Amino acid sequence: MELKTILLTINDGIALVTINRPKAMNAINDDVMTELGYLFTEGLNPKNLKGVIITGAGDKAFVAGADITQFLKLDRDGGYALSKKGHIVYNTIENYSIPVIAAINGYSLGGGNELAMACHIRIASPNAKFGQPEVNLGIVTGYGGTQRLVQYLGKGRALEMLLTGDMIDAEKALSYGLITHVVESESLIDKASKIINKIATKGPISVANTIALVNAFFDKNENAYEKEMNYFGDAIVSEETKEGVTAFLEKRKANFKGN
Ligand code: COA
Repeated sequence: MELKTILLTINDGIALVTINRPKAMNAINDDVMTELGYLFTEGLNPKNLKGVIITGAGDKAFVAGADITQFLKLDRDGGYALSKKGHIVYNTIENYSIPVIAAINGYSLGGGNELAMACHIRIASPNAKFGQPEVNLGIVTGYGGTQRLVQYLGKGRALEMLLTGDMIDAEKALSYGLITHVVESESLIDKASKIINKIATKGPISVANTIALVNAFFDKNENAYEKEMNYFGDAIVSEETKEGVTAFLEKRKANFKGN
């Protein structure tokens, strides 16, 4: 697929996905959502990568939301479909088997903040601003915001942000646990790469299974505790665990092969 709204570079096994609509504050229109969905299904191959970083073009915005200009053209079915497509794409990102880090370099609003929350880890520059301003438009979040914000912030803080539409700055987002680091914007990609490179030294199957197990906690159809027992049982007889434990006992670095 030809990418029209996203810039993709792959460097040292790390895919850098840049939403590239800076004149519209990188707002997510249908093309962006389609291209994101393509990248996280067919476009990228997690087996050949260590991780993915998602960021926004320019120095003002990560992503300032879903593209508002598309809303008034939609009928009810169209609105439902737009939301469903976003849910499917963001769920795919959340369940990706290698780490996906949001490098938030400015406004992270609405569907943009929902994209950041679908990533496994979020880091931000000091000028970043986070918000779910949907109530200002008389809509509700459409890409999982009411669900994931509660997971990160707890109900009270999430409801205050969702109901007032107020933005919070990077320091507050850090104290709320929405992000894990604040670093200068020119160092954001480097910091995200360092986190990915560290994770890449771990057992790839244990990393993928850990992501799946943490996500399972929030899935009402899963018995995540039972799933953990099964994954632990599978792990204990795996080549990966054999290598990891043997390396520990032999006082050497593990050489994981992803099998
Ligand atoms: N959808 C479509 N276009 C958007 C957009 C969005 N979510 N967010 C910003 N833009 C556009 C603006 O319309 C403007 O376009 P123009 O130059 O053609 O007029 C351009 O991006 C720059 O935005 P502007 O508002 O002039 O910049 P600002 O620095 O004054 O304010 C924001 C930045 C992000 C605070 C402001 O644009 C904003 O509130 N955006 C909407 C955020 C939102 O409600 N998101 C949730 C959507 S569900």
